Amino acid sequence: MPPSFLKAKKSIVPKNKSSSSKILITAALPYANGSIHIGHLLEYIQADIYARFLKLQNKDVLYICASDMHGTPVEVNAQKAGIPPEKFAEKFWIEHQQDFKSFLIEFSNYYKTHSPENKELCEVFYTTLKKKGYIFRKKIHVIYCTHCERSLPDRYVKGTCPNCTTADQYGDVCENCSSVLKAINLINPHCSICGKTPIQKESEHYFFTLSKFSVQLKQWLSQANFQPEVRNWLQEWMNKGLEDWCISRDAPYFGFEIPGSKKETGETKYFYVWMDAPIGYISSTKNYTDKHKTTWEAYWKKGEIYHFIGKDISYFHFLFWPAMLMAMDIPLPKLTVHGFITVNGQKMSKSRGTFFTAKDFIKLYPAESLRFYYASHLDRKVVDVDLDFENFKAVNNKVLVGSLSNFCYRVLTFAQKNYTTIDQIAKEPELTAKVKSLLDLVKESYQQQDFKGAVHHILEIADIGNAYFQQAEPWKDINKSKKQVGWCVNLTRNLAIISQPILPLFSHKIAKSFGDSSFLWKDIKFTWKGKLKEVELLGVKIEKTPNAAKFPLRMVVGKILRVENHPDADSLYLLTVDLGPELGKKQVVAGLKKYLSINQLQNQKALFCANMKPAKIRSQMSEAMIFAADDGTSAALLEASKSPVGMEAHFGGMENAASEVTFDEFKKISMRVKSGKVFYENQKLATKVEDIQVKGLKDNSIVR
Ligand code: MSP
Ligand code: ZN
Repeated sequence: MPPSFLKAKKSIVPKNKSSSSKILITAALPYANGSIHIGHLLEYIQADIYARFLKLQNKDVLYICASDMHGTPVEVNAQKAGIPPEKFAEKFWIEHQQDFKSFLIEFSNYYKTHSPENKELCEVFYTTLKKKGYIFRKKIHVIYCTHCERSLPDRYVKGTCPNCTTADQYGDVCENCSSVLKAINLINPHCSICGKTPIQKESEHYFFTLSKFSVQLKQWLSQANFQPEVRNWLQEWMNKGLEDWCISRDAPYFGFEIPGSKKETGETKYFYVWMDAPIGYISSTKNYTDKHKTTWEAYWKKGEIYHFIGKDISYFHFLFWPAMLMAMDIPLPKLTVHGFITVNGQKMSKSRGTFFTAKDFIKLYPAESLRFYYASHLDRKVVDVDLDFENFKAVNNKVLVGSLSNFCYRVLTFAQKNYTTIDQIAKEPELTAKVKSLLDLVKESYQQQDFKGAVHHILEIADIGNAYFQQAEPWKDINKSKKQVGWCVNLTRNLAIISQPILPLFSHKIAKSFGDSSFLWKDIKFTWKGKLKEVELLGVKIEKTPNAAKFPLRMVVGKILRVENHPDADSLYLLTVDLGPELGKKQVVAGLKKYLSINQLQNQKALFCANMKPAKIRSQMSEAMIFAADDGTSAALLEASKSPVGMEAHFGGMENAASEVTFDEFKKISMRVKSGKVFYENQKLATKVEDIQVKGLKDNSIVR
């Protein structure tokens, strides 16, 4: 029996109906395969701010999310851990909820995709699509690892992207060009479980006819209010033509079985995780509405839907998902895409010490410091947001604490200590009018999801308050200034109301001082009178930023002044090297004789290791070490022709160590050549002015 929503009448592009005021916000469903990190938090905070803003407007809003439990990674990792995949995913489901809570992210419902509701809805979607002729079967070549005895879906095959030739990409989507890939099309594929080269095998699979939705999707593209960056991607994808989408996977797979697949293909097939995951938005809604005397249809069919997603999952949310919704006669959502979090200017990395899980981060800094920092950087542009720790500290200490919190705390503490009640308020018509126009700008900015703008105008209001309080000098004559303090108390209350979406705890502490527990936007006024309670501390300064990860070697540009033969060893040279003003001249023993001539070394600028423990090598002291790359037959120096002598080179954001290393410690460090540059754990070696170069050597040559 088809559910009632299927009977809705057909329209080419379903429109968002705004007849009802129900609003549903979602953030992407995080994989239940790992911990929430500060990159994820950008999105959940962004969507939380918007949901809280709408709630502040007294709107009927749900903020819905869930853990995405299906797919190969969960299945493989659960197997490694020796526990059933449900149990494995469930652990992360619990952990995710704690993490979100610790960052004051308040979901109306946080569910999971491995649920009865999702199974049922997934089957409803499937059977409906099938009935409407949008599903077909086709034999395809899949990638199969004979060593692991399994077919390798998506992320279990790695190789070079056929679209942009970026190496080391997963088989589902390219990190560099964002195009959706098919594992079969990767160049030089390898199994990411065992590393062996997989084979191709024939298997029958289910497809969704995405191509049939080209016209409707194009129409949507021309009508909807997309972010310009997104519009460009969509146009590109459309121009390339839409291919039908494979929605099934072979066993072993953690997911829902496709009904009838065993009978139809001879093997049990499972729904691809990206088929049931977005349906998870609806099933999490259903799990909530079933308990709250309403229906999911009230939101999905009559309300407005807002999805917040990262740029990496755009293809799924702008093509597959809307096409499925169209096929189901469900109105289309509005979408906001955000960029990625980088830390100190680079991709988060464990080796550089810039990968923070939510749990790591909350141990170091308050949740609202991060919420405020992210809000100050989010303006609905699809750009990456850099969490630069010096900047983070400055924004927290100077702006959040130094300006906003400090004003509110000072006013409330002063007012509460000096007056039994606030019963007089200065009129200040001009200043009040100015503040009112700023309040409108704050609201408008929130509405546009320009949280950076909202923060900016909130701070303008705080600045007005700070200057006014300072000028009134109420501490000189508390009775004469009572009216002015009354105006400041009202301003503080209004600031607490408007910053609530970003700073819910801050706002709540101030509300308590006014004897309230929470605010609505309509509570804004300049006529509040009453008795204040003592306010809690409103924010603390950050003292320390996390230390950058250290690279064990100190790498310094030097110039070879003289090259001689070692008096006691046929294969060695004796170099005299200038390592710059700080380190001076050093004698270096180098085993480069069989690769490089004296002429090739003389007067060259090259990279040296300056913190090797000095050692006697065949009667001669070696006080530093010269780096060279070799592939067994030839060798080359690490060149730094544009950098001044004495300048240090670094891998990415890593600092160089200063303490001495022994040759044995040195040997354990694996630096490799890639495209003429030097890499360590994916970090490129460079000085401030140039990348370090290695000429004429193959990729993967060793640096030593
Ligand atoms: N499970 C899918 C989403 C399914 S939605 C129906 C998924 N999960 S994820 O855990 O990998 O990512 C969840 C969200 O976090 C995505 O929107 C993703 O873009 C976002 N982010 C993950 N890493 C991020 C950063 N480093 N920076 C910003 N957002 C990041 O994709
Ligand atoms: Zn394998």
